[in-house]
Amino acid sequence: MMQRKLKIAPSILAADFTCLGEQVRQAQAAGADMLHIDVMDGRFVPNITMGALVIRAVARVARIPLDVHLMIVEPERYIEQFAESGATTITVHVETCPHLHRVLTQIKEAGCHAGVALNPHTPAESVREVLDMVGQVNVMTVNPGFGGQQFIRATTSKISQLRRMAMEAGRDMDIEVDGGINSRTVAIARSSGANIMVAGSCIFGHAGGIAAGMAELRRAAANP
Ligand code: DX5
Ligand code: ZN
Repeated sequence: MMQRKLKIAPSILAADFTCLGEQVRQAQAAGADMLHIDVMDGRFVPNITMGALVIRAVARVARIPLDVHLMIVEPERYIEQFAESGATTITVHVETCPHLHRVLTQIKEAGCHAGVALNPHTPAESVREVLDMVGQVNVMTVNPGFGGQQFIRATTSKISQLRRMAMEAGRDMDIEVDGGINSRTVAIARSSGANIMVAGSCIFGHAGGIAAGMAELRRAAANP
């Protein structure tokens, strides 16, 4: 089986916000394929992070796609705002969308790529009927809400299942993993069928700096 190209998406949630622009430039220079931006509302998840203002600021320095992950209730209220702020891909959680098909259509009409995210307990089946509408599926490998949590191994069977579902449907789709990805867990996510690796603390919190964190992760993903 041809593997989808490996992409690394540093999550700015773990960046130093006193110098966010500089951190973004460093991640880019170190070969980041996209930037992951975690929007949390204190309702769907027990934490509040950033919104359109920060996306707009990052868009001014970024030369790579912005992968915006919405962990908010009623995401349909904010799609156009995030699109206008510079989001390339907008991912919504299946758990927040009773009308998932409608929201994914809205994202595409706003000119963005659409993604859908699944909490650890949410089955792969829940996205089967919308697979043809999305460019990527985000398999949450932690319970969303915070950076720096531990990778939940039980999610790897869902990654393989989604990769199989995509292949059966003839879809060459990106599968993203998000949470607890580091040089010890990245290879298992990769061999299960994921190709976009979101990583926050192991990149921005690396003792050797952002470039060292990126290099270590890329090496570990390539050598399971
Ligand atoms: C968690 C967020 C993640 C988070 C990952 O709710 O969706 O994107 O930033 O952080 P690490 O890599 O530190 O687990
Ligand atoms: Zn995320």
